[in-house]
Amino acid sequence: MIIALDGPAASGKGTLGKRLAAHFGLRYLDTGLLYRAVAKALLDAGDPLDDGARAVAAARRLDPARFDERGLKDHAVGEAASIVSAIPEVRNALLAFQRAFAAAPPGAVLDGRDIGTVIAPDAGVKIFVVAEPRVRARRRAAELKAAGQPADDAAILADILRRDDRDRTRAVAPLKAADDAIELDTSKLDIEAAVAAAIGIVERAARRR
Ligand code: DC
Repeated sequence: MIIALDGPAASGKGTLGKRLAAHFGLRYLDTGLLYRAVAKALLDAGDPLDDGARAVAAARRLDPARFDERGLKDHAVGEAASIVSAIPEVRNALLAFQRAFAAAPPGAVLDGRDIGTVIAPDAGVKIFVVAEPRVRARRRAAELKAAGQPADDAAILADILRRDDRDRTRAVAPLKAADDAIELDTSKLDIEAAVAAAIGIVERAARRR
């Protein structure tokens, strides 16, 4: 079984993805980490984020087995990832790895922006996770504060809105719900309620197949 989890920044996909994978005995891939790793390679080297050739070279050099997640989760790296992810050749360079991960038994949960539309259009279950921007900003600020990083709620809200707009309006593989995706709005749900709702969606989809 392949579960595609798409949605905007800080909508709760990561938490849901890990919990769904554990519940159903599947592997889990946070595809945002791939774009974050490309962005971080450029930032570390002092290269401009719109340098397509260097971004593609960084994407081809990636070794997802050796990610250091902590550096990749920084707020600024997410912003930079949104910029490099709009480069079509970067997306192409990361396509085969994601498809192979999804196809390997026993199946997987992948979270991202284009899983249900591009990476795994035949996924058995597609969930499009949304939450109101203010709720997402509050959650992201709480995460950053918990990690000991400074967080200004208003600045984070502005970043999230800008990132959503960039991810939704790019020409290639924009953030959008697949036609057959089920929307899950987590604005009013705590983690346990959101996980229970997602498990319900997967179970109903599995019964229909
Ligand atoms: O999910 P995230 O915040 O870690 O993603 C960081 C950026 O990477 C996001 O703003 C857009 C890009 N991304 C993408 O274009 N496609 C994906 N499947 C995952 C992430």
